[in-house]
Formats: sequence, C-alpha cells, structure tokens
Amino acid sequence: MSEYIIKGGKKVEGEVTISGSKNASLPIIAASILNQGKTTLYNVPNIHDTQMMYEILKKLGAVVTKKKNKVIIDTSGIAKYDIPEELMRQMRSSVIFVGALIGRYGKATFSYPGGCDIGTRPIDLHLKAFEKLGININKNYGNISCICDKIIGEKIDLDFPSVGATENAILAAVLATGKTIITNSAREPEIIDLQNLLNKMGAKIKGAGTDVIEIEGVKKLKDVSYNIMPDRIETGTFLCMAAMTGGEIQLKEVNSSHITPVIHKLEETGCQLEVHKNEIKMQAPKRLKAVDIKTMPYPGFPTDMQSIFATALTMAKGTSLIVENLFENRYKYTQELIRMGAKITIEGKTAVVKGVRKLYGANVKATDLRGGAALVMAGMVAKGETKVENIEYILRGYERFDEKLKKLGIDIRYLSAN
Ligand code: UD1
Repeated sequence: MSEYIIKGGKKVEGEVTISGSKNASLPIIAASILNQGKTTLYNVPNIHDTQMMYEILKKLGAVVTKKKNKVIIDTSGIAKYDIPEELMRQMRSSVIFVGALIGRYGKATFSYPGGCDIGTRPIDLHLKAFEKLGININKNYGNISCICDKIIGEKIDLDFPSVGATENAILAAVLATGKTIITNSAREPEIIDLQNLLNKMGAKIKGAGTDVIEIEGVKKLKDVSYNIMPDRIETGTFLCMAAMTGGEIQLKEVNSSHITPVIHKLEETGCQLEVHKNEIKMQAPKRLKAVDIKTMPYPGFPTDMQSIFATALTMAKGTSLIVENLFENRYKYTQELIRMGAKITIEGKTAVVKGVRKLYGANVKATDLRGGAALVMAGMVAKGETKVENIEYILRGYERFDEKLKKLGIDIRYLSAN
C-alpha cells in the first residue's frame, strides 16, 4: 500500500483547476455501451475508478483510446454482457454497467458488489427498478442474472432517491419501447450530466435535476462528443483545505451552483467567499467557527463532504454537531483523527466535534476515499509529520492529488508501495 507523508504547518495558498467529475464520469462511461459506436469524452479525470471502468469495457470487447483527459470509447465490438467478478468486487460503482448492458442486450450477468467501506450499500432499489421494466432477475449464490425479451417503458417509483438506481433505470430505459417515468428520482447534478450526454446521443429524456424523470424510448443512438462537468466534491475538498489551514484559494473551472450548501456552511464558519459561475475565491479566517451539518440527498449537504468538512471543524472555535443521514458507517475516519488529538464522540448518526487548539502528526490509515482526503488535510495543520497509509482509496477519486497540493504550498510526499 502507498503512503503520503505530510509535514504540517503550511497554508493552502494559490490557484487550482478543478478536474472533471468522478461521479458523472462513471455512468457516462457505462452509457457508451448504448450507442454501439464511438463516444468521445473530454475532461474525464485520470483516476483509479475511471481506469477500472475502462478495464471492464475492454473485457466486454470495447476499444478504449486515452490521451490525457480525452477518452474515445468504441463499443461497436462489444459481444459480452457479463461483468467480470474480480472487477465487480473492486469497485461497487461497476453496478452501473448493468443498466447499460440491459438497455443494449436485454440481459446482463454480474456478481453481487463486494463489501464496502462506508456502509452496506445494497442494490435492491436498482433491481426493483429493473423488475418494473419487465426484466427477470435470478439470484444464485451471489451471482445475479437479468434477462428480458423486450424492455417496456413503465412507471418506477423509487422508495428512496438513490443516485445509482436512478442512473441505472435511465440507462435501462433509453432504448425501451414506450415511456418510462421515474418518480422520487435522485436530483444530483451528475444525473443531469448523464441526461445531457444521452440526449446528445439521440435519447429523449427530460426532468433530470428534479424528482420526476421521463424517458421516451428511442430505437437507436448515435456517436457523440461530450465534456464532463466539474467535480463538485473535489471543489469542496480544496475549499475546506484552505479553510482549515487559514489559507487563501482560487478555484478555476468549477460549477459553483453545485455546491451551494458547502459554500453557505463555509460562510458560517467565517470564511469570505467570492463566488462566480465557474470560479470561486476564498479567504479563510485565522480560526473557523463551529457549525452544525446534516447530510441529505441533493440539494442538501453532500455526504461525500461530511468527513472533509467535519475534519476542518476539529480545530474550530466551539462544538459542532454532524449528522450523517446517508451511510451508517461513514465515521471510521474519526478514529484516526482522534489519534491525532481531535475530540470527537460518535452516537449513532451523530458526531460531536469539540474544537481543539492543536492536532499532532501520527501514522494513520485511510479507510475510504473522502475520509482519506480528510486525514491528509488534518496532516496539513498537525504539529510534526503525518503518515497516511492506504492512500489507494484517495487515488480512486482525486486526480493528481499530491501534485495539486504541492502547487498550493503543501509539504506532501508520495511513497509508492512498489
Ligand atoms: C452515489 C455516489 C456517492 C455518494 C452517494 C450519495 C457515485 C458513483 N457515487 O453513490 O459518492 O456518496 O451517491 O450521494 O455516484 N440504497 C439502498 N438500496 C439501493 C441503493 C441505495 O438502500 O439499491 C441506500 C444506500 O445504502 C444509501 C442511500 O441509499 O444509504 C444512498 O445511496 P445511493 O444514492 O444509491 O448512492 P450511490 O449511487 O451508491
């Protein structure tokens, strides 16, 4: 496992360009299966998760050509519809291929996604949505096969606005016969990005970004070029890093309307922000003020920002209350922060964060993607040196993480396991 070594005491200062969104890229890469042709994507982040998606596509028979952040995916040669088990286990998000494969072939086989770091993360809502579209689902010792003669548009009412289930239902319904209406759908901006890509391919989808999405099935899709939206969680991460270190930052190529609740909470802590459509400037105070946060589906405060924001609050003036409503296991990183001197107690969904004056460098382990980034951030303000192990989690979702941080003035070194 690789590591980051961070020497504390430097502020995040300067300018950073935000990469393309991980969570928008994953379903969009899967969607390339549907047009049976060429999909050219720009602004795709070079991260472990997108790499895994290409590996799966290649195993299915696609040709993937990559140059920096441009990717050309040719799915005309795909002849398989089974997702390899080892890849399915490595990345839970690979379940997003199921909707696309069903949409193209009326069938898909895959294994149950492996255990996860932030909670149980079932896929019952995905399967229920497929069943509504007339797809038969057979479960056999952890293997699942989906099959149908023809997908017929239907009404799908989601029990919970799951992002993945909404995206999978869209992918499965694009080439269906008739109209599909998804109610109580997730409203995340990444779903709008998926809708925009598919409509550019020739699909007829409307309503993404609201809780009712309508998909009028079409017979065929065409080749497309598409630019992926900015990563709102990377945007929030860099803002919190500047906030925690008392720094000053300028973020380029963002979509600031996607992170409104994070901006509001940063203002409450005492940060001064100048927010433009595609650019944000922020000046942090000497010491942040405590604030309360509760995570909610979009447009609420994002669960993916919970660990990062809570970590910024470990040195704030006062006590902050954090409520995590999405994933039951998303407080693992707090155990590592406590080893660095943070005062955090957990009671069910709630974390009580008492601001301290100092954190101390320690050897800590990343337990998930965002929690890992949060530990690196704690290392920036800690006295002495912090070693963050298991950074493979961080590399899953942040592009050129240490390189960007070095440019912002942080003393960080990457130690490869090999
Ligand atoms: C996506 C994001 C992830 C983010 C999450 C919530 C991607 C690749 N990942 O994950 O970064 O943290 O949205 O904003 O876009 N649930 C069920 N049954 C299901 C599906 C979900 O009970 O079939 C539950 C989950 O356990 C969780 C909640 O619904 O408690 C939200 O999950 P969901 O919105 O599906 O998240 P993901 O799509 O997995």
